[in-house]
Amino acid sequence: MATQRSTEGKWSHGKTIPVRNVQALATNAAELTAEAIERYIRPERISDVVVDGNSDSIPVIDLGRLLDPQTSEQEAAGLKFACEEWGFFQVKNHGIPDTVLENMRSDLESFFRLPLDEKNKFGQLPGDLQGYGQAFVESEHQRLDWCDRLYLVSQPPHDRDMRPWPTTPVTFRASIESYSSELTRVTHSLMEIIARNLDIHLDRIKETYVSQALRMTYYPSCPVAHDKVLGISPHSDVSTLTLVWELNLVEGLQIKREDAWVPIKPHPKALVVNVGDFLEILTNGKYQSIEHRVTVNAHKERMSISAFHLPKFDTSVGPLSGLVKEDEKKYKTLRVDEVAKVVFSSKLDGKKTKDYAMFSI
Ligand code: OGA
Ligand code: NI
Repeated sequence: MATQRSTEGKWSHGKTIPVRNVQALATNAAELTAEAIERYIRPERISDVVVDGNSDSIPVIDLGRLLDPQTSEQEAAGLKFACEEWGFFQVKNHGIPDTVLENMRSDLESFFRLPLDEKNKFGQLPGDLQGYGQAFVESEHQRLDWCDRLYLVSQPPHDRDMRPWPTTPVTFRASIESYSSELTRVTHSLMEIIARNLDIHLDRIKETYVSQALRMTYYPSCPVAHDKVLGISPHSDVSTLTLVWELNLVEGLQIKREDAWVPIKPHPKALVVNVGDFLEILTNGKYQSIEHRVTVNAHKERMSISAFHLPKFDTSVGPLSGLVKEDEKKYKTLRVDEVAKVVFSSKLDGKKTKDYAMFSI
């Protein structure tokens, strides 16, 4: 009998072609030839429409007020509006201790500053998307994202494969562990209120956000072509809820709204939260999983951590009956492991997961 990796079939199984390290490329002027950069150039950026953003461009939700019985109702109305009208919002007053954030920031920065050989000790292995590298590269000709990532399945604990969890810096694993559990708590609080806003019992959606995968991303600066490359190409998230921390406060995230890109200004004390494809499917499109992308700065490196909260593997996700009549369902009910197989076998091109679930396609 073949031995199976412990992560087989979980939120990390997939193929990707190894590509060169972007950070190494970006810091080596001799290698940074027009030819080398060609694979990162996005011709479609010529027709970009980007509007002016400010820190209030997306709604801001105060988690403290959301959890305080005195103010909860009013704040929950704000959350409902944010989910229905934006699909993106910031969460401030989230209660994550400063030490947890500081340890995470400092360890991740140290990790990204290690020599490439050191980082590669925790690199992706064939068939597993976890570890340091680039995911979803399918062909030698595909345009590439201007970033390197460390991707780890972090929750539930028994789904972890510790091999790709870096041991340098020595405190890194503990920092990830604390950060991950804090984010689980924040997500649970938000989902409780989301269930209330949808007028359903939390038990009906409890299994849709129990898994968590962390994508820690380093976007090098790109003086030669920052306006022609992309840190991450347009996509919507395969998640129920995603929590993003823009940890060094460099701008880059943009969301699609009325056919224009709206930049999200990082807020020093907040996390950016977005509705993912699974929540869109559960709500039959009432809450939308919005397309977004990441641009690159000419002179500053950018770092972020996306925490994807995902359904339990052996369940199904479809529009919640009770929320929607049978003949009004816009999405099929899909087995989560099947969705994962489709998603992780190929690059997330635009809005794949929800398109896959749509009846009309
Ligand atoms: C993602 C993503 C945004 C960011 O990882 O899916 O959209 O700010 N990240 O890095
Ligand atoms: Ni995303």
